Amino acid sequence: MFTRRSVLATPVALAACNPFASAEPAPSGPIPSLKDIAPFPIGAALSSAHLDDPDWRALAKQQLSQLTTEWELKMEYVLQDGPGTPYRFEAPDRIAAFARDNNMRLYCTTLVWYSQGASWLNDLSDSDFRKGFDDYIAAVTGRYAGQAVGWDCVNEAVAEDGDGLRDCIWSQRLGGKEAYIERSFEKAREADPDTVLFLNDYNLEYLPRKRRTFLNLVEKLMSRGVPIGGIGNQAHLDIEAPVGSSAAFLRDAASLGLPIHVSELDFPKHHEGLIDTRTEPQKRAQQIAHVRDLAEAYMALPAAQQFGFTTWGLRDPDSWLLREEGKNWPDASPLFFDAQSRPNPAFQTAVDAFSGKS
Ligand code: G3I
Repeated sequence: MFTRRSVLATPVALAACNPFASAEPAPSGPIPSLKDIAPFPIGAALSSAHLDDPDWRALAKQQLSQLTTEWELKMEYVLQDGPGTPYRFEAPDRIAAFARDNNMRLYCTTLVWYSQGASWLNDLSDSDFRKGFDDYIAAVTGRYAGQAVGWDCVNEAVAEDGDGLRDCIWSQRLGGKEAYIERSFEKAREADPDTVLFLNDYNLEYLPRKRRTFLNLVEKLMSRGVPIGGIGNQAHLDIEAPVGSSAAFLRDAASLGLPIHVSELDFPKHHEGLIDTRTEPQKRAQQIAHVRDLAEAYMALPAAQQFGFTTWGLRDPDSWLLREEGKNWPDASPLFFDAQSRPNPAFQTAVDAFSGKS
């Protein structure tokens, strides 16, 4: 989901003390491979349709060591044919096969999310609801046991403003907000004893109260022996916010000792609002500054906590931000590669950070 927009300083103020002044040019010559440079897995989200695009496949094989199922392992796809119909797996099975055939890790999202699945279970009795929920997690998690290196087990459990946990069908029908979360992790662990189970959320770098609520929840789950294995920081970056908040969140999160997955990185240069006073170089420089903040802070984590660094799409046109169901921002250019698989300016920032040059 997306962050609020801060008001940008005027160009005069930026010119006077512009922290974004130096936008490195895109690299010339052969494109470095992020997966070969980084000391941790480099991922991207995809739909199975991307597998039919030879340019996407070529770039993915060059750059990626991990794939995330963007939407085809969510209830909206698996249960698309409604209650009582067979689960749908043909699309995620294609992604799993491509990952396996190309020696890439498979990361899956998401088992339980406040925003999906209600229509499927809503009319069931309480006992049938619980059974339906448990059976779904067992079937979906179990299908990829032995291949899925990790799951977003519960997605976006914290309230939008950070004031407690979201109320949703799962909390209403499974005994409360913490109860459904614990049940989700326990049932997923029963189905796959090895996959790493993550709690995933967004805006953790921008909303201190949301960060505190999220980290307190993680700590509580850990103290109760709930099998939470990692923290997912979606990292949908607001490049008009002050630089430094990504590093601040990672420092706080690292104190819990769990692996951390940058799970959905994008950094759109689009401005929400009527007037955008930034020049293109200033926008690119802002992207570079925020990617540098995140990438360098991630590099500073202990190796055991560097689970993986995933962008939410591979090339700009692959991003949800450009799509109708997303933000419909054609000018977003939110990822490391453009429509022709050429590096965007922020790519070199990642290369420098992951190779220890910056
Ligand atoms: O591909 C079908 C198309 O054939 C069909 O005509 C069309 C209309 O029904 O739907 C298309 O599928 C859409 C799919 O995105 C691919 O574009 C689904 O309806 C739509 O629901 C799905 O949206 C996904 C969304 O989560 C909801 O699952 C986005 O791709 C995905 O980027 C977005 O990702 C979320 C993360 O899971 C959580 N964090 C925020 C992030 C962005 O919202």
